[in-house]
Amino acid sequence: MELKIVKKINQEDVDLLVVPVLSSNLDKVLKDLDLVNLAKKKNFTGKKNQLLSKDNLLILGTGKEKKLEVEDYRQLAGNIINYLKNNKVDNIGLISFQWLKGNNVKDLGKSLAQGLTLANYTFDKYKKKEEDNIKVNIKTLVIELDSKKKVQFKNGFDQGILLSEGTIKARDLVNEPGSVMTPSLLAKEAELIAKENNNISVKILDKAEIKKLGMDAYLGVDQGSDQPPKFIHLVYKPKGKTKDKIGIVGKGITFDSGGLNIKVGDSMADMKIDMGGAATVIGLFSVVGKIQPKVEVHGIIAACENMPSGKALKPGDVVKNMQGKSIEIGNTDAEGRVTLADSLAYTQKQGINTIIDLATLTGAEMIALGTHYAALYSNSKKLNTEILKAVDVSGEKIWPMPLPEEYIELNKSNIADIKNIASTRYGGSITAALFLQFFIEENVNWAHLDIAAPAYAEKPFNSYTPIGGVGFGVRTLLEYLINK
Ligand code: BES
Ligand code: MN
Ligand code: ZN
Repeated sequence: MELKIVKKINQEDVDLLVVPVLSSNLDKVLKDLDLVNLAKKKNFTGKKNQLLSKDNLLILGTGKEKKLEVEDYRQLAGNIINYLKNNKVDNIGLISFQWLKGNNVKDLGKSLAQGLTLANYTFDKYKKKEEDNIKVNIKTLVIELDSKKKVQFKNGFDQGILLSEGTIKARDLVNEPGSVMTPSLLAKEAELIAKENNNISVKILDKAEIKKLGMDAYLGVDQGSDQPPKFIHLVYKPKGKTKDKIGIVGKGITFDSGGLNIKVGDSMADMKIDMGGAATVIGLFSVVGKIQPKVEVHGIIAACENMPSGKALKPGDVVKNMQGKSIEIGNTDAEGRVTLADSLAYTQKQGINTIIDLATLTGAEMIALGTHYAALYSNSKKLNTEILKAVDVSGEKIWPMPLPEEYIELNKSNIADIKNIASTRYGGSITAALFLQFFIEENVNWAHLDIAAPAYAEKPFNSYTPIGGVGFGVRTLLEYLINK
């Protein structure tokens, strides 16, 4: 897609001219474009996601009274793509009467690129060829902007494309069936990234090496499976010298059957998504070498399956993580936190003292925050703030949650240092986060994102997030790294 920035777009010069409208200037725009009668006939009232088209004009309702936010532009761009799926054209012009009101030009460019790219995503490799003919291919995008802002906008746009590519990589990994997306395939994806980027290296540990490091908690979860476990450690090194090392840890359960505490009903149906955190790590690494933040970034995944078998972990078993902390297995379906006990321990052993983990950890997170939001926990005010600042630009929905001291005792075990289930169902996402915190050493800044809900969209979240893997967290974490 070629990006053309001009002072004024002529309607005749483009195949389609897109005009977003605010409700406050709806009447004026409709009058100026001679669309008052058509709007009446089609019941176009300027509500969000409403469209009105005539000849080569496309009017987009925004539902906004005064101004559009960066996220509105992302959704607007998504609406354009969805319209074009049924109305293909080569070049489009985008007019906006109030581009810059309080918005950063770079962020605008970024969000437009993201909306256009992410809305165009489909996972159709298992479908008949004829059906995947729904991709939109815009050759030229013409937008109106002061020439002084051109460079900033273009920089944002290019970065937005990269952030989307990383997100799409993560979506692809999540959407792949569990029998295909095994720990070995995840490891292969990581190796491919290291091969393609000379500033990224990777280490893959096999079962014997994992055992040698004493990650018996992780191996406990793995032991019921016929697939070999793979421990993945990616490293991105920036050009300049840096002391800052940031660890991004992803839960990598490539299928969660529940183990011997097997999942019932249809609660197992979507459990191929239980490597959503790992997918985010790999999606992020697929572009971080090109985005080139100034800090060293480590991506860490303890990948395995959670399966029932004669060899599987039993409720009541006790396992030790590589820090020597013992865990009573109260329920084999609370497996993610047990593998994370080792991946977090490993990360800290690398001397990394800023860690963000992402995990499809608890059904309780979905109960607490609904389908769109991730829960954010952190022992560091600063890290918490930095992540929420990244959210302002990324548009992903992340909400802060507490780590109350009063709840720590709920994870108490009578026979081990800690138990992997709490004594109450209440606050299940919080008690899971507190379980993880038990393995965090003093002076380590740690944040945990429970992404059980937003890792996967059962219905489209918005115009640019279709059904399926969301690639949640890639954009926010990259924004966070860019800001470092
Ligand atoms: N992977 C699941 C959590 C999950 C549920 C993610 C739904 C995405 C959608 C996790 O391993 C799990 O099974 N958690 C249990 C914990 C319980 C046994 C304490 C849960 O949430 O039911
Ligand atoms: Mn589980
Ligand atoms: Zn799980």
